[in-house]
Amino acid sequence: MSRQPIYLDHAASTPLRAEAGEAMLRVMSECFGNPSSVHRWGRAGRAALERARERFAAAIGAEPAEVVFTRGGTEADNLALLGAARLVPGCAVACSAVEHKAVLTTAHALAGEGHALHVLPVDGEGIVRLDAVSAALTERPAIISVMWANNEVGAVQPVEQVGALCRQAGVAFHSDAVQAFGKLEVRVDRTPVDLLSFSGHKFGGPRGVGALYVRHRTWLAPLIHGGGQERGLRAGTEDVAGAVAFALAAEMAEAERDWEAARLGGLRDRLEAGLRARVPELAVNAAGAPRLPHVCSVSVPGVEGGLLLAALDVEGIGVSAGSACSSGALGVSHVLTAMGVSPGSGPAVRFSLGRTTTAEEVERVLEAFPALVGQLREMAAA
Ligand SMILES: Cc1ncc(COP(=O)(O)O)c(C=O)c1O
Repeated sequence: MSRQPIYLDHAASTPLRAEAGEAMLRVMSECFGNPSSVHRWGRAGRAALERARERFAAAIGAEPAEVVFTRGGTEADNLALLGAARLVPGCAVACSAVEHKAVLTTAHALAGEGHALHVLPVDGEGIVRLDAVSAALTERPAIISVMWANNEVGAVQPVEQVGALCRQAGVAFHSDAVQAFGKLEVRVDRTPVDLLSFSGHKFGGPRGVGALYVRHRTWLAPLIHGGGQERGLRAGTEDVAGAVAFALAAEMAEAERDWEAARLGGLRDRLEAGLRARVPELAVNAAGAPRLPHVCSVSVPGVEGGLLLAALDVEGIGVSAGSACSSGALGVSHVLTAMGVSPGSGPAVRFSLGRTTTAEEVERVLEAFPALVGQLREMAAA
């Protein structure tokens, strides 16, 4: 009997929670009215949408009016950066060097539009340097963006401190919390942050549904113009079913966060210890940083990254090279480069654990991975 495949790429995308899928189907058939319509069908859609907004807002300690639903994390990041910078022609913007491409490429697009861009360096563990944040603040940027936790190596950034520095300087602070939500406490009533990005498919919600938290009195220019939906910040008929499923999945992720993070952290530690013991010269990236509990990035010298991923896939083990969103490129990623990891360290493999991950799966990976690396190293040597 063939063994079940093992999915260890939850940082790329998670399976939809059954409850979220059911809610989506129900809302699609029962609340199909356009939320902007005045009749009963429209009012039913509006009520479902606003209830979803309230529920998500409660999960992050926000006011409902501070939640803007978007078509995913990338759009939320774009709205934050472009929206803040385009209000102030020629202003500076700053972001860390290890941001997801949704932020980094957007920041570079702003540089192309004539904005001065400060890319903030990180230390060898992937943590943004606070002295660089302070230096950038003297330029009075319109926005500073430092992610809550990194998608590739899991390093958790000092958002409290960055937020405090930004507050002192009166500069808007955006953080991409796409990977952090559901794993760490992400609350806007306890953290000095003005803009926060979320993505449903990272916590068991639907793909293509996200949100941007916009603190009261943080001003943004919309990217999409039209009927003025989402308080004028995101035009287009709202995806009510998506928003309901997103909010439900967020509530569920938040309810199980403490014990699930502890469970995943235990499995991740077991995986890491086993890999270190069994694969000579393997290095764990950002090992010294505070990290997300479910992410483990390792560099493996002496093998070809593409072959290793393909061999793992044949073995039924799904992981990514660095981050999945740029896994077309198997070179050293911008994140590892910023951390000073040399190409000689070998290709990086990211294991990311999630709700479906079991201890037995981790043991199976600990059998298979070292053997595959050994075979590929022998082939390379031959
Ligand atoms: C940190 C981070 N930000 C943004 C995104 C993009 O989110 P979405 O896939 O919803 O566009 C991702 C997805 O991998 C991510 O990991």
